[in-house]
Amino acid sequence: MKLLIDDANIEKIKAIYRLYPVDGVTTNPSILAKTGRNPYAVLCEIREFIGDGAQLHAQVISRTAGQMVEEARKMAGILGQNLFIKVPSVPEGFRAMRELSREGFNVTATVVYTPMQAFLAAKSGADYVAPYVNRIDNLGADGVRTTKAIQDMLAKNGLKTEILAASFKNSQQIQALCEYGVGAATAAPDIIENLVKNASVDSAVEAFIADFEGLCGRGRNMLDCDLPSSIVIRDSIPSIPDEQ
Ligand code: G3P
Repeated sequence: MKLLIDDANIEKIKAIYRLYPVDGVTTNPSILAKTGRNPYAVLCEIREFIGDGAQLHAQVISRTAGQMVEEARKMAGILGQNLFIKVPSVPEGFRAMRELSREGFNVTATVVYTPMQAFLAAKSGADYVAPYVNRIDNLGADGVRTTKAIQDMLAKNGLKTEILAASFKNSQQIQALCEYGVGAATAAPDIIENLVKNASVDSAVEAFIADFEGLCGRGRNMLDCDLPSSIVIRDSIPSIPDEQ
């Protein structure tokens, strides 16, 4: 399962990229609005940081298919390769998806609340469909179950479209879909951090450090603990570049 960051705050994106194996960034108009900055300035900054090899998802705003396509053409000219045009899964959106797919754009069908939206988006040529897991939960339905049903439905109908699950509020929702093998999930930085936040793990690591320091001295590690003179270094040690 690919894992993407659902945010446009460059400092948060950099912090997650530094620690976690992520595959790109997704945005939506509300996420861009939170930055209070020009959307192209923000998206170009993200593209420059993540590089052309990573996925960047950005959404069209218009209500008509023709204008969605025009927006997408401009966005592609500015935001480079590996851009995924997010198109809402509404009737005009399906028409736009068909045209964008025909023109060779990567398309992410977004605002998916039901399997039938996903089905029509997939038939319209979308590369990804994005079910909004937590928002579906908030409607009294089951976002994880809906997403699994979409995955099964796409497979049974021979559609190559993958799932980019979105709108998460807890780790369990992501883990359930990871276990099921969905193609991708996008989550806010705090949700990604919470995937592995665990006080028991922290205390186990601290105990290992304390035991080693008790053995070799405070602040010591395998790099700078004493080396008996009888020990011979076998190979040259590759140097590790300083962290930026
Ligand atoms: O990008 C779309 C999706 O992630 C929305 O998430 O948290 O606003 O429900 P949320």
